[in-house]
Amino acid sequence: MENQNIISNAKYDRKYDDLSFSGNIALIGFMGTGKTTVCNALSHIYGMDVVDADADIERKTGMRINEIFEQYGEEHFRDLETQTLGSYEGRQNTVISCGGGAVLRHRNVEILKRISRVVLLSARPKTVLFRLKDDDTRPKLRGHKNTADIASMMAERETQYKNAADIIVDTDGKSIPEICREILQNAARIQ
Ligand code: S3P
Repeated sequence: MENQNIISNAKYDRKYDDLSFSGNIALIGFMGTGKTTVCNALSHIYGMDVVDADADIERKTGMRINEIFEQYGEEHFRDLETQTLGSYEGRQNTVISCGGGAVLRHRNVEILKRISRVVLLSARPKTVLFRLKDDDTRPKLRGHKNTADIASMMAERETQYKNAADIIVDTDGKSIPEICREILQNAARIQ
């Protein structure tokens, strides 16, 4: 995902494209694979509405994700995540940015599959490390800021990510508009 500035210069317009997909899209994938960035680009370029599960959890609880993990533990965070994803039922033309661990719970996968096309964004461990090296907002990456640990966490989650996904998009080396286009083209094909 290079050249992020290209978003503001993009001249894509869905009416000139074969991107007739009008349902919801859920973006899943490991931390640092670009879910939030791509979500915002799908909104900016293609006019989709956006919801971000982590941001909604923080808004509802008035707490940062780190604080929720520290004070109440991961299970409690996962419960909040399930409630939040459930609250998106009934949405249309919306892109849902999911936390990287959302699909580790089968219930969440059921919700996402019912209401959206599920798109897995992938990136190399090196890319994830580069993007998140100065970030301290991810409790699951504390003490694991190296490619070996990231690769091993990715490998642990790989089956769950792949089983949840309707579409897989590799983000390495692609511009954000290219990624958006690939997502919508594939979603239109399988709707
Ligand atoms: C998590 C990913 C985070 C956030 C929480 C747990 C995970 O979201 O939900 O820190 O277990 O992978 P991002 O993928 O948006 O960083």
